Amino acid sequence: MNSYHQLYINGQWQSPVKGGTFETVDPCSEAVITQVAAATTEDIDLAVKAARQAFDEGPWPQMSGSERAVVLRRIAQGIRDREQELAELEVRDNGKPLPEALWDIGDTAGCFDFYADLAEDLDDQREQPVALADERFTSIARKEPVGVAGAIIPWNFPMLMAAWKVAPALAAGCCMVLKPSELTPLTALELARIADHAGLPAGVLNVVPGLGPDAGAPLSEHPGIDKLAFTGSVPTGSRIMQAAARDIKNISLELGGKSPFIVFADSDIDAAVEWIMFGIFWNQGEVCSATSRVLVQRELYEPLLKRLVEVTEKLRIGDGMEEGVLLGPLVSKGQYDKVLQAVARGSEEGAQLLCGGARPAGFDKGFFVQPAIFADVPEDSWIWNEEIFGPVVCIRPFDDEAQALRSANDSRFGLAAAVMSKDMERCERVARKLRAGIVWINCSQPTFTEAPWGGYKQSGIGRELGEWGLHNYLETKQITRYDSEQPWGWYIK
Ligand code: NAI
Ligand code: MG
Repeated sequence: MNSYHQLYINGQWQSPVKGGTFETVDPCSEAVITQVAAATTEDIDLAVKAARQAFDEGPWPQMSGSERAVVLRRIAQGIRDREQELAELEVRDNGKPLPEALWDIGDTAGCFDFYADLAEDLDDQREQPVALADERFTSIARKEPVGVAGAIIPWNFPMLMAAWKVAPALAAGCCMVLKPSELTPLTALELARIADHAGLPAGVLNVVPGLGPDAGAPLSEHPGIDKLAFTGSVPTGSRIMQAAARDIKNISLELGGKSPFIVFADSDIDAAVEWIMFGIFWNQGEVCSATSRVLVQRELYEPLLKRLVEVTEKLRIGDGMEEGVLLGPLVSKGQYDKVLQAVARGSEEGAQLLCGGARPAGFDKGFFVQPAIFADVPEDSWIWNEEIFGPVVCIRPFDDEAQALRSANDSRFGLAAAVMSKDMERCERVARKLRAGIVWINCSQPTFTEAPWGGYKQSGIGRELGEWGLHNYLETKQITRYDSEQPWGWYIK
């Protein structure tokens, strides 16, 4: 196994100033995988200064988009060349089943290729004329990199979440300091190795794992950072926003959700069960956009619950490396405890636990939780309103479209939503009335690098992916020229 005892700063592997390390754990065996270098304030400062210097004096921001695209495509290829190994590392560090990890790594490579294309497009689209009413002036709007970006990412899609920020930032010409989650730091360090081999200039990407308060907080507070991009929980997002407020950093936040899924009675029952399950059991339900609140029209409610329980009870749980496993362990003991507490709370609140919600039989190790289905969940309960971030689905019946929409939109979150019906007019109508940044019709969760991603309300600020993701890392400059031969004539007549 590669060593993870050093930080990647200024194109070099270096030991943390204070020499600290932390353990990363395999959530399936509960064994320590390896010690990882722990960055603290001093290292963050070095990393930001390296990125600052690379941005202010280095070649990267001055290169054309096409030149940057060459390096981005080499990174994509470097990821593809090690696809299986990286996916297995992700399984060990995070717990997710191998087919999902392979999917993530494929998407990670795809994300670098996609932003390589956009970097090329930027060469033609960088400067656009602005039509002014006053013909004495000529003006253009020009896109420039925002500067040094800090990225703080979570543990649920470790390498993919890195790519969602690193790829557009580099495409735009920014330099970056990336702090992966302390629960899953390994693939971000591999990304540093791959970027290094791809010939990325020193200081353009710095990777500094560490704990939230020790490494994340100093990064979010650092005056050398122009832009902060964060994915994670609402409380941490709020803290980062406060830190950014001090010196008016540009921010984008992708936070949690409690996304609704409205199933109308004319839906095919197996299609509904399939997408409800994919919406909440995929990646152990540790998904920001998980459709964790399901509203089912009354006529379909009982038969759907019956079929859902039947299929859910057959879902194969186990080591993500085992073939056929569709649900791995939760990422950490902390997340495991949090999910079990949420299940206990749901039962106390009067929701009907139809299945799961406990450690599966035969598992004496690993942070495994059987997928749980709660029916008749009270609308004012904690479990109906708060993000659990585990394989726990909450279900309620509804009578008509207006009631379903009211209930779906009655949330402080607005990341995603889904609607299912054979009536396409109804689906399209409901999709437009749902207050969420991502709406799926007749499915839940499929995510595309080309399409905008982000939330309404407390689910975040800004959009990632697609051209929107690139614009996160671009400033717009106005350049205006006075063309007239006539003197301005204000002071000197
Ligand atoms: P978190 O939001 O605290 O952690 C995410 C990242 O923020 C990690 O890299 C962490 O080190 C960093 N961080 C923590 N404290 C920080 C601080 N004061 N300043 C700067 N960075 C800081 O999430 P955590 O504790 O891992 O999970 C708690 C809950 O958050 C989960 O149960 C889940 O509900 C939610 N969550 C949501 C995610 C999403 O994709 N929307 C991802 C991960 C967690
Ligand atoms: Mg781990």
